Amino acid sequence: MKKILITGGAGFIGSHVVRLFVNKYSDYQIFNLDKLTYAGNLANLTDIESQPNYTFLKGDIVDAAYINGIFAEHQFDAVIHLAAESHVDRSITNPLDFVFTNVVGTVNLLNAAKELWKADFSDKLFYHVSTDEVYGSLHDDSFFLETTPYDPQSPYSASKASSDHFVRAYRNTYKMPVVVSNCSNNYGPNQFPEKLLPLFYNNIKNNKPLPVYGKGENVRDWLYVLDHARAIDDVFHKGKEGETYNIGGFNEWTNIDLIKLLCKVMDRKLGRAEGESEKLITYVTDRAGHDLRYAIDANKIMTELGWKPSLQFEEGLEKTIDWYLANETWIDNVTSGSYQKYYENQYTAR
Ligand code: NAD
Ligand code: TYD
Repeated sequence: MKKILITGGAGFIGSHVVRLFVNKYSDYQIFNLDKLTYAGNLANLTDIESQPNYTFLKGDIVDAAYINGIFAEHQFDAVIHLAAESHVDRSITNPLDFVFTNVVGTVNLLNAAKELWKADFSDKLFYHVSTDEVYGSLHDDSFFLETTPYDPQSPYSASKASSDHFVRAYRNTYKMPVVVSNCSNNYGPNQFPEKLLPLFYNNIKNNKPLPVYGKGENVRDWLYVLDHARAIDDVFHKGKEGETYNIGGFNEWTNIDLIKLLCKVMDRKLGRAEGESEKLITYVTDRAGHDLRYAIDANKIMTELGWKPSLQFEEGLEKTIDWYLANETWIDNVTSGSYQKYYENQYTAR
């Protein structure tokens, strides 16, 4: 039985990856390692937590002794590394947290994998999940390719870029088998309501102002989170060792157009008069160093691995809003902070 360590599996994207792997591959033992920071929520995984091929490990990737210990104990065959501090605004107020988790944490995992695998790297893989933000900010109509030079602009993207470099350096220096993917902005169920879409969804529902940074002219390329999880499955199983794959939906929106679409759909779902939610839009001071545009060229993963997004954006947005409307307890628990007691209730009593 193949033993796979997935880090950050209680987070937004990680929880969808864990579910996909646990349900699809009964011959894999999936270990979900997560520190359960404010962004980690085990309630995301209640439907699979009793599966025999799933194990949760609570721990911090910054703690080298702990990481070395679990590699020695469980003898993982592969790592899919998603654990990270992931919110740009938090990286602006507290960059060091990002250095510790995203850089030091990644190097700790690489060291532990190297130590365990160094006698024989065959059939081993360290898969590092990264972001398109490492490529910087586009100011023309071009796209990010896998060969685009790194030019990170925020403390978050600088820390992710650094971790990507370490992963490739371990391949070059120690022959560690690696693969890296860089994805565009994700949206969908279980996203923590500090990121644009769930935050604005929640504010619309509660008639609170929608804080649009600057003029709302920044462009992001949005991908449904389950399509990212499927891409990770494809890269893990079919990707060529040592390669990088860009993942994106060819789906660019200015923030303001996206927000207006969200308002329109929410008016319909909540039975409000058309235009009602848009009145909540409030322009606020821009984010410091706000990247203007991200846009992924996803042709490589599409042609080489046969992956493509399954949903049009309008359909994905509807599904996402329907999920949040149907899971009010999830968002209420997250906004009240009570989700952090879940681990205590669920695990410490056992
Ligand atoms: P998230 O913030 O929702 O989840 C991160 C998870 O990592 C949480 O469960 C958290 O508890 C865990 N974690 C944080 N620090 C840890 C530590 N020190 N030790 C162990 N666990 C820790 O993030 P996400 O949006 O799901 O992103 C997952 C990965 O995908 C990140 O590496 C991110 O850079 C990358 N990514 C995200 C997006 C996006 O749009 N969200 C796009 C491209 C790439
Ligand atoms: P975010 O979800 O934080 O993702 P990222 O910064 O990684 O792209 O933000 C998406 C876009 O929305 C980004 O251009 C910043 C903008 N934004 C706002 O205008 N207001 C907000 O309150 C937030 C959280 C984001």
